[in-house]
Amino acid sequence: MGSLTATTPKPLLALHGRPIIEHILGGLHDAGITDAVIVTGYRGEQIETHLGDGAGVGVRLSYRRQDMAEDAARGTARALLLARDALGEQPFVLTWGDVVIDPSDYGALLAEFRRTPCDVLLTLNEVDDPWRGAAVYVDDHWRVTRLIEKPPRGTSRTRWNNAGVFVFTARIFPYLARLQPSTRGEYELPQAIAAMIADGCLVRALPLQGFWSDLGTPEDLAAAEHAPVARVFSMDRSPLRGASGQDWALGAATSDRLPAAGVSQLDAAERRRIDALCGRYRKIYGRAAAFVVRAPGRVNLLGEHTDYNGLPVLPMAIDRSVLIAGAARTDSLVKIRNVTPRFRSRSYTIAESIPAFPSGDWGNYSKAAAQAVADYCHGDPCGADLLVDGNIPSAAGLSSSSALVVATTLALLAANDVDVPYATLAERLPAAERYVGTLSGGMDQAVSLLAQAGHALRIDFFPLRVRTVPLPAGYAVVVCHSLVAAEKSLGAKLAYNRRVIECRLVCRVLEAALGSGLPRDLQTLGDLATLFPGRPLLDFLEYLQLPDRPLSVAEIAAAIGTSPERLRADCDVGPDDDDYFSLTRRARHVFAEAARVDQAEDCLRRGDAVDFGQLMTASHASCRDDYEISCPELEALVIAAMQAGTVGARLTGAGFGGCTVNLVAEDDVRVFLQRMDRDFYAPRLPAGAHAGDYRFIFAPQAGASVMRV
Ligand code: GLA
Repeated sequence: MGSLTATTPKPLLALHGRPIIEHILGGLHDAGITDAVIVTGYRGEQIETHLGDGAGVGVRLSYRRQDMAEDAARGTARALLLARDALGEQPFVLTWGDVVIDPSDYGALLAEFRRTPCDVLLTLNEVDDPWRGAAVYVDDHWRVTRLIEKPPRGTSRTRWNNAGVFVFTARIFPYLARLQPSTRGEYELPQAIAAMIADGCLVRALPLQGFWSDLGTPEDLAAAEHAPVARVFSMDRSPLRGASGQDWALGAATSDRLPAAGVSQLDAAERRRIDALCGRYRKIYGRAAAFVVRAPGRVNLLGEHTDYNGLPVLPMAIDRSVLIAGAARTDSLVKIRNVTPRFRSRSYTIAESIPAFPSGDWGNYSKAAAQAVADYCHGDPCGADLLVDGNIPSAAGLSSSSALVVATTLALLAANDVDVPYATLAERLPAAERYVGTLSGGMDQAVSLLAQAGHALRIDFFPLRVRTVPLPAGYAVVVCHSLVAAEKSLGAKLAYNRRVIECRLVCRVLEAALGSGLPRDLQTLGDLATLFPGRPLLDFLEYLQLPDRPLSVAEIAAAIGTSPERLRADCDVGPDDDDYFSLTRRARHVFAEAARVDQAEDCLRRGDAVDFGQLMTASHASCRDDYEISCPELEALVIAAMQAGTVGARLTGAGFGGCTVNLVAEDDVRVFLQRMDRDFYAPRLPAGAHAGDYRFIFAPQAGASVMRV
């Protein structure tokens, strides 16, 4: 890094041989941003002369100057107001001229904003004691609950620091106009954001994955007094559609057209994706890919949170998938790259025991697969050079992560020329996926591998059995996003695992209550169906003689005559799990949901869409009231769908955000979508966003495939 001099503005100092500002503009360009406004303070003319109209950095530039002698009011908030006319009503990215982040994090920021629109999306870095910038407090869903500007040292109870790169919608401007200058004469941006939080605006945060620096020590910051005040970058006219099409975002392949029923072959769009992927592969790895694998995501029609209880589910594969192009290596290294820059390149050695990347790293899904593959390969497995292209929206309850595990498994098996039956993999991979710390069941992997085009799949577990189920003629399945991300690797994982633990606790209580009437201990609640054939599972609720309220482990242990320590150990209750478990409700949902899957299969076999729709709606109510996995946005989405003319609507997947699945008569689909856009999406999406990016119709697809190329 160059040294600060009195005459060189900080953004023009060289970092790795290039002015800092060019690093920043290059990152914005790669993220798909075409226009930027630069607001300068002192020595702005040097920056203008250096960058000109921006042709050299691939971003069209315009400038605003703040007269530092005249304008006593400084600070980023003031600079933003100066750029107001150029920014218009579009969402825009803001960054300081001296905050340098890994360029791919700009792309990640925009992808996150498109996936879950909000009023402000700010970036975070993790520090020991956030005292230099604003300390940021977030909830489990990365919603910002508090922002404290420059807190006294040692007082923060958060490790998240505002990293100084934001996406804003125009909603910020009235708050900026109302700001009062701070004691330093600065108009502090965090004050405006804090006021927005207080007013109930949606302010979210995204931790940066890579490098961050504000270039400095406190001395650097003091020197920045003489540097330009702020740089403001606006996005082009249609920011939510214009940027990279390779994100795992909903925009990738949406269509309002009804798909042809039962499409079993790769359609033209998928072929184009494969060709493009192979082209990129050659560029990146300098040789041709030897194979391409494809693993689809899924939507579950009915049977939520039943799979890990050994009870049936009814999903189908969607037309979004993970593609991986690959070729074997001669050593045991696995190199995995993603066409979406947000997912950083990873490499590791395939072996019997592979140490994990830090929790939350996408590379762990690949390692989960590699660990499983190592078991199937005799001798030393070879590694592979892999390139991933996924278009399943992530954190949407559509199983993007399991599709990645399935695809990586198939890719590494192909590299090693090892053949394993899909049904065997479907049984084995759920356990492999626990590598990432989720206690999930087997639905996602099984349907991704075994789905049949044009059909839903009834899946039973332990042992795994599948059978196709027809869909009612004349009806379409519509998937709608609630605009809330359900991150499987973050808060939603904890909430999900907690439900699994609650079901284990129910097993212990039933064992105690049934006593010698039970031939053996229960591995899962589904064992009751095997041990007492013909007896409705809901009958067993009467053995749960517990108050219908959250109970502590100590209370449950006392009720069944065991010690809390033993119960914790038996059910893997973690030391950090708080102590309130809702057993009666959880059991009621699981038992009733399993019965609904049986009834639903009957309805579908006789083509009764209306009865099936009612079962979907009943399932949603049970997910909401007894399993408590819904959220206000999912509720609003289901209500909007009922009013828009669906015959059945429910959340799908793990819950806590993500998508709903809706059954709609084909003749009503056009009106249904119009109403959803008008009633649900229009009031919630920022100007410029396109509702069509958040809901889609699809034909059920076949399961995973491996193509030699
Ligand atoms: C997630 C899990 C599945 C299943 C669903 C809920 O998708 O991965 O195994 O439990 O939630 O039905």
